[in-house]
Amino acid sequence: MTQTLTIRRPDDWHLHLRDGDMLRAVLPHTTAHFARAIIMPNLVPPVVTGDDARAYRDRIVAALPKGAEFTPLMTLYLTENTDPKDVAAAHAEGLVHAVKLYPAGATTNSASGVADFDKVAPVLEKMAEIGLPLCTHGEVTDADVDIFDREAVFIDRVLDPIRRGHPDLKVVMEHITTANAVDYVRSADTNLAATITTHHLVINRNHILVGGIKPHYYCLPVAKREEHRLALRAAATSGDARFFLGTDSAPHTDANKLLPCGCAGCFTAPNTMSILAEVFEQDGALDQLEAFASLNGPRYYGLPANEDTLTLVREAPEFPSHIDTPDGPVTVFDPIIPLNWTA
Ligand code: DOR
Ligand code: ZN
Repeated sequence: MTQTLTIRRPDDWHLHLRDGDMLRAVLPHTTAHFARAIIMPNLVPPVVTGDDARAYRDRIVAALPKGAEFTPLMTLYLTENTDPKDVAAAHAEGLVHAVKLYPAGATTNSASGVADFDKVAPVLEKMAEIGLPLCTHGEVTDADVDIFDREAVFIDRVLDPIRRGHPDLKVVMEHITTANAVDYVRSADTNLAATITTHHLVINRNHILVGGIKPHYYCLPVAKREEHRLALRAAATSGDARFFLGTDSAPHTDANKLLPCGCAGCFTAPNTMSILAEVFEQDGALDQLEAFASLNGPRYYGLPANEDTLTLVREAPEFPSHIDTPDGPVTVFDPIIPLNWTA
């Protein structure tokens, strides 16, 4: 039986680092394993302009643990007022690697997101021209659309029209949760890829709702039924270059999760690589872990794969149930399954 597994150092193509004390508390858990990450811009206020992104990048770099080698790949938060020239300048400077589309009201700190998609057409046109990817939070927000259908409806009503209107626009469907999204990505030959989180490979909606409500398994898009989880697993472990890791590790304090109206997000940065090794091994696909975590993402983003490596050892890892932060404890995602790989 394989006792160690060495892969190119992985990257996280969708990560929430927050700011201030929380940033300092969570960042070492990512830099321990990952060389780069696409940094989500949904701060309060959001990271909208190139200047915002530069300042946020500098705060992340200043918060790096001693000796850590880590490159934050910054993103801009798309608003109806985003200036295509500012986006192009931030991209030309090598600062910004994607623009993030949050439909207004879809998730945490998305109030400044897009309500009228026609208004952002000039930005999307510019992005298509310069080859800057659009990352989508793929859920509609219409009150009459059931929360479990919001991703599938987004594909039909929003994403497909955008892609038809801008065929050269590179799109990353973030944190996909449905077989519909897997099929949609597979149906496209170019300019479409998807990130998959660690937690959506492990939990379905029963984990959130059966036997009492489990706020620590609540995230957005919410986990769907088992058949969808299995479709995500098949996609992630297939080696198909259009699917890659974006953990969506999203720390919230327990005080903010355990409320009558609790926050969405699973904090998976500390144990993501151990969980992924377990998932891939269970599916007889350990040999595809490197493609999913380390190769497919940089290829789509037009960046070289990392030169250095990460070695996982077959040894039961130990993780704390939570990390302490100056803002209060943050619970670490519990995958329930026994873990056998230490990263
Ligand atoms: O679960 C989530 N948490 N989904 C998101 O889209 C946002 C994120 C957060 O920022 O907490
Ligand atoms: Zn996210």
